[in-house]
Amino acid sequence: MNDSSFGISVKDIDFSWSYGVPILQSCSLDVPKGEFWMLLGTNGSGKSTLLRILAGLLTPQKGEIFMTEPMGFVFQNPDHQLVMPTVGADVAFGLVKEKLSLVAIKDRVREALAAVNLLDLERRPIYALSGGQKQRIAIAGALARHCEVLLLDEPTALLDADTQLELVAQVQRLVKNRNITALWVTHRLDELDYADGAFLLEAGKVVAQGDPIFLKEKLLKTPN
Ligand SMILES: Nc1ncnc2c1ncn2[C@@H]1O[C@H](COP(=O)(O)OP(=O)(O)OP(=O)(O)O)[C@@H](O)[C@H]1O
Ligand SMILES: [Mg+2]
Repeated sequence: MNDSSFGISVKDIDFSWSYGVPILQSCSLDVPKGEFWMLLGTNGSGKSTLLRILAGLLTPQKGEIFMTEPMGFVFQNPDHQLVMPTVGADVAFGLVKEKLSLVAIKDRVREALAAVNLLDLERRPIYALSGGQKQRIAIAGALARHCEVLLLDEPTALLDADTQLELVAQVQRLVKNRNITALWVTHRLDELDYADGAFLLEAGKVVAQGDPIFLKEKLLKTPN
């Protein structure tokens, strides 16, 4: 049974690729509704695999997932996600299934672009955007669909330090203002200052969780 206080709830997930090496093993985590949690772990620990399972792109062999809908996914590399020629068209593209009027689509697109401070770029071709702007457009796509859950796989990996902290602060504000539940994968420990909580994944299992600052200090002390 799902506890409705969680926006994301993962129970005892097992996942392996066909040749059988276990990637996730009895992996469980809960993100409270309306909170911004981060997922950390060394390369290959299973973070992207877990996010892909949550996004429905992979099916686990065992376990259960409960998630508030609709869900939005932001990839590490926005070039894998932005498909239309211009900013406005790309954000609108995610709305095609919703059978909205043209006016309603326009309103949703503008509102989502305004939320990520990119309204002036509505007519800009995608190729003429910076990496940080592309990440924001991908987030605007999820906001336009009124997503209640946001999954972000290393959204700041390609960004410089200033743009990185701007993006994380912006997502933190959006989560709070819109009561979104967000799970954000990162390797950058300074981002933990913006999180409500964090999980540490090791060999496909959550081995530590809770206070992000406590986790940050623990990881800073751990030699790599
Ligand atoms: N398509 C695939 N086929 C087979 N094995 C895969 C595939 N994709 C990932 N793996 C393996 O699954 C394991 C977990 O990978 P995953 O991408 O989830 O790690 P990650 O924690 O996101 O790492 P990183 O920090 O490098 O992004 C790794 O050992 C990886 O080699
Ligand atoms: Mg990854």
